[in-house]
Amino acid sequence: MIDLHSHFLPDIDDGAKNAVQSIAMLKESFSQGVRLCIATPHATIHCNNDIEEFLLARKRAIELLKSNLTNRNDIPKLSVGAEVYWDNNINQYENIERLCIYGTNALLVEFPLSRHISKYAEEWFYELNRKGIIPVIAHIDRYVFLEEILEKLEGLKVNYQINASKFLSISGRILLRKILKYDKNYIISSDMHNTSTRACNMAAAYKKAKSKYPHIAEDLFLNNAKNILRGVNLF
Ligand SMILES: [Fe+2]
Repeated sequence: MIDLHSHFLPDIDDGAKNAVQSIAMLKESFSQGVRLCIATPHATIHCNNDIEEFLLARKRAIELLKSNLTNRNDIPKLSVGAEVYWDNNINQYENIERLCIYGTNALLVEFPLSRHISKYAEEWFYELNRKGIIPVIAHIDRYVFLEEILEKLEGLKVNYQINASKFLSISGRILLRKILKYDKNYIISSDMHNTSTRACNMAAAYKKAKSKYPHIAEDLFLNNAKNILRGVNLF
């Protein structure tokens, strides 16, 4: 499996607090069958300088993790991106593509938890596409306006990430049924923040997906992410 959305980098956001926690998360992820894990720390960008500051903080977090990694045999391969908060016209920033998953044109974005999608969403996504960037909407399952997104962005190049936890509850599976009836490119990821309250749950979710959606389980947990991440650079 590939996990495209996670918060295992130490001391940068509300994910792993230190390198010990990072490594525990990664070992758990590997033991569940994840072989490539992308760190996507939260990034709130309100000026070009914020991008530089974020990249610097992320670099420090990567170095901290690497200096504590003595053995890589029991963790997934690692790469990095960002989870960009969509509360501004992010197209106006020259270097926004630097927040894409390393070596790819995939940009993970999350919306504010409002009642409706921004009226500018189509325009901004169109602009991102024009720049060659393909957005991945983080945890599409979280938004009350998810059907608005799925309908409005028709025709644009957009991928949709769903949190693995949705497979593990009845209400989550009802929601999944609603989402998956739209024919889109979906990727299941953990969005793990720690090893307890928001832990990796990819194995349990994959097992459920295999029984409920056997024809697409492999696409949801591996193939679709693999397509998006073609050319990804590791760290
Ligand atoms: Fe996240």
